[in-house]
Amino acid sequence: MSILNKVIRSVVQVMPDQAPDELIASNRYLGRSINRLNGPDKVTGKATFTADYPVANLAHAALAYSTIAKGRITSIDTKAAEALPGVILVLTHENAPEMKVPKEFGDGSSNDAGTTQAKILNTDHVSWNGQPIALVVAETPEQAEAAAARIHATYEKEDCVTSFEAAIGDAKQPKAIMGEDPEVTRGDVEQALSQSAARIDLTFTTPPHNHNAIEPHACIAQWDGKDDLTLYDTSQFTAGVATTIAQVFGLKADHVRVVAPYVGGGFGGKGGAWPYIQLCALAARETGRPVRLAMTREGVFRIVGGRTPSQQRVAISADDAGKFLGFVHEGVTAQSTHNHFPEQFSFPPRHLYSMEAYRIGQKVTDLSRVANTFMRAPGESIGTFAVESGIDALAYELKMCPVALRMRNEPDADPVSGSPFSSRHMRKAYEMGVERFGWKSRPAEPRSQRDGDWWIGQGVATGTYPVYRMVTAARVRISADGTAVAQTSCQEMGMGTETVQTQHLAERLGLPMSKVRFEYGDSTLPYAGVAGGSSQTVSVALAVQEAGAKVLKELLALAQKDERSPLREANFEDVVAKDEGIFWRVSGGGESYAAILSRAGKDFVEADHKTGAPMELLKYSMHSYAAQFCEVRVHALSGEVRVQRWVGSFDTGRILNPKMAVSQFRGGIIMGIGMALTEETMFDDRTGRIMNPSLAEYHVPVQADIPDIEVVYTNEPDPHTPLGAHGIGEIGITGVAAAVANAVYHATGKRVTSLPITLDKLM
Ligand code: MOS
Repeated sequence: MSILNKVIRSVVQVMPDQAPDELIASNRYLGRSINRLNGPDKVTGKATFTADYPVANLAHAALAYSTIAKGRITSIDTKAAEALPGVILVLTHENAPEMKVPKEFGDGSSNDAGTTQAKILNTDHVSWNGQPIALVVAETPEQAEAAAARIHATYEKEDCVTSFEAAIGDAKQPKAIMGEDPEVTRGDVEQALSQSAARIDLTFTTPPHNHNAIEPHACIAQWDGKDDLTLYDTSQFTAGVATTIAQVFGLKADHVRVVAPYVGGGFGGKGGAWPYIQLCALAARETGRPVRLAMTREGVFRIVGGRTPSQQRVAISADDAGKFLGFVHEGVTAQSTHNHFPEQFSFPPRHLYSMEAYRIGQKVTDLSRVANTFMRAPGESIGTFAVESGIDALAYELKMCPVALRMRNEPDADPVSGSPFSSRHMRKAYEMGVERFGWKSRPAEPRSQRDGDWWIGQGVATGTYPVYRMVTAARVRISADGTAVAQTSCQEMGMGTETVQTQHLAERLGLPMSKVRFEYGDSTLPYAGVAGGSSQTVSVALAVQEAGAKVLKELLALAQKDERSPLREANFEDVVAKDEGIFWRVSGGGESYAAILSRAGKDFVEADHKTGAPMELLKYSMHSYAAQFCEVRVHALSGEVRVQRWVGSFDTGRILNPKMAVSQFRGGIIMGIGMALTEETMFDDRTGRIMNPSLAEYHVPVQADIPDIEVVYTNEPDPHTPLGAHGIGEIGITGVAAAVANAVYHATGKRVTSLPITLDKLM
């Protein structure tokens, strides 16, 4: 940690807490299973997703991709493409106008959202296999794709490293990982490992993964003159795309408008401004027409990065009561030669267990491959696979119940920083999960349950994900007709953002939900950060809360000036927002917003507000927790693994909408089951080319792979977060792969340490 961080942290430690949010237990709308507001529009096809925008005179773009990992383009033949009907323009490095390389995505505190430092089309140099080498614009998408397929390039290859295994030896420690130290240590861990009753020392590997959102990436670009650009984009960071594309074309950021009200899933893959966006904007500028670039599924694999591969060592020792003495979690992930994202797999154990001595850290190596990026719970999803598999193995060494072993090592404060937890109900989550799953009737012995040709086993693992909050702005307006609106540029990828923020605004202002609206998904609205790090719900909630308070203060000021108002003597502390107006907290008298505004002769009152930095994260150790329980069956002859029962028990602060929250948890668990059993992006290690860029060959789970998933949750509000809530988008996937691997061990007696757990590993 930097000195500055340490100083800030020590100051923050002694600062008094903010009072908990007044709405922490309020439940007129919050805490209720309200149906998704945009559900009917989505299922009836009325919702306008990016590629659906009806834009007049639209032309269509397609890309051609490099077929080598590194080198130079020695020739590129576009004649066959140009000769095809409908083709308007073909751009390659030989004729593409200059674009600037945008700043790379940082730690989330800026709007920079660049994904690669490689020049796109403005160079004959190739940095990864799949890099765009030509952009075709035609009258129809089919004509554009057909023409792109006829572009032929020759190359002069250069030596490079495309195999993760081959690059592990060159791994280096990055300066920092998401602002944290790359390695943390305490005590003599080697001694603690050697002198103990039981120990395990295992090495795990996880493969690269790709996000496969239902909606592939797409963009529509429309210029108004040379300086104003509107982009419809499948973005989970409208403000980031606006800033980044402005950098690319040398525009002012507020001259680029990014519109994205509906996004068909993102999972982190739509957080960055991937190169298709700037190429779509370039195509529109050069043809003088609005242009749509709807990526093919293969195209998404070629240019949008996914999850890093990892190799992780977990060594843990314990005394005979199960107390952790030595704890090592270390290893390597990959980034590319042209981006910087060392995925934080070593974060989970820093906050999960008390340990006498530890060494927890990670290195990163560079490959000549497509850039890596965030994918649902980057770090925690793969990190918990290794750590939680290791703890399971240690439980067998100790002949202890794996739940009891974890509870034996529950810390009182953050094991590394020493900070108090803002809210941690791990024991309750485990108790609820144990009860619901029927864990106590599980036999301790592995390979002890058989049903015909199937071995049966039950496994458990801990999941965890941090609480983040981002600086966010919102505008709140209350109108004389008694309605209210909140606006922010945030994004809805299907999580339920619009619904839960509408619930929140109605609750906050004492209005019925039918009289409030939440407007979002447009970079011209007040600033919101990336819909990432499971931070959006609380970040937006705080901005709306604080902007709402400003509006209420202005309304009260109007009332105070008015002889006839029952509120003229009231101070802000004396009143509450309820029953569509402002009322005395104790005596209950007051009046409606409409009455105040109409007497004042005003149509509306509005206020903008930007929240402060998340200082609470420096004072408290803030995390969500999960206890994941599953039952698998493994075919004794074929090694096929089927998950047949699941209970996820979550401790994620207050649940704001159970119906949508449970859906998020289930989605995370399903993605985790894919990670456990089937998902793997296969790179050809000789060429760095992805060999399975389609849903036929990259296997995401389908309905038949997924059992009933039961979800329970502690619903304990966190007194240090807006609404008492935590983000819930990513916690669901964490711990899942370990729970499956641990159940597979329990079924078969085989410890699989490399994902995915395919049947060959069990034969
Ligand atoms: Mo999430 S991987 O921060 O969209």
